[in-house]
Amino acid sequence: MKILALSGSLNPQSTTKRAVKIVIAAAKKQGAEVELFDFRENPLPMFDTRSDESTYPETVQLFKQKMLEADGYILGSPEYHGSVSGVLKNALDFIGARELEGKPAALVATAGGALGAINTLNTLMIICRTLHAWALPMMVSVPQSYMAFHADGTLKNPKLQQRLEELGVKLVDTVKIMRKK
Ligand SMILES: Cc1cc2nc3c(=O)[nH]c(=O)nc-3n(C[C@H](O)[C@H](O)[C@H](O)COP(=O)(O)O)c2cc1C
Repeated sequence: MKILALSGSLNPQSTTKRAVKIVIAAAKKQGAEVELFDFRENPLPMFDTRSDESTYPETVQLFKQKMLEADGYILGSPEYHGSVSGVLKNALDFIGARELEGKPAALVATAGGALGAINTLNTLMIICRTLHAWALPMMVSVPQSYMAFHADGTLKNPKLQQRLEELGVKLVDTVKIMRKK
C-alpha cells in the first residue's frame, strides 16, 4: 500500500509538516509505505493551463506520477487567510480525478489562531469531493500552531497527538477496505 503525503507550507520550520509527519509515522506503523512529496525539495511551477503538460519541468511529471500511483493521501495545509495555502492549491491544480478518484485522503491543517483551521479543512474536503476522492470524516486541526509542539516534534496536547496518530491508522484501514472492493 502506497500513501503520498503533501504539506502545503514552505516554511523550513513548518508546523504543518510536523503534524503531517505524526500522521505519516502512524500510517507506517500500520505497514503502509508512505512518502512525503516535499515542495521545498521539488518546487512546482505555477499551473498555467497550457495544453501540452509535457512541457512543464520534470518535477511536475514526477508529482503527477506519484499522485497516480498512491492508494491514499495525507494532505496538510496551513490556514492562509481562512483557506488552503497557495502552495498546496497550486499543486492540486495539476491533479484531476484521474489521479484521485475513489481514493481516501486524510486531512490535516494548522492555524495561528485559537479557532483552528476548520475553514481550511472544509475547503480541502470540497477539493477532495471535486476530485472524486474520499476525505476521511475524521480531520485534525492544530490551533495556535506556533506554541503547539515540543522540540521533538510531538504535540504538547496529548489528545491532539493521539488524534493525529488515529488519523494515520484510519487512513490505512480505509485504504484496505476500499481495495477489497
Ligand atoms: C499569509 C498567511 C496567512 C495566514 N492566515 C491565517 C488565518 O487566516 N487564520 C489563522 O488562524 N492563522 C493564519 N496564519 C497563521 C498560519 O496559519 C499558521 O502560522 C500556520 O500554522 C503556519 O503553518 P506552517 O508552520 O506549516 O508554515 C496565516 C499565516 C500566513 C503566513
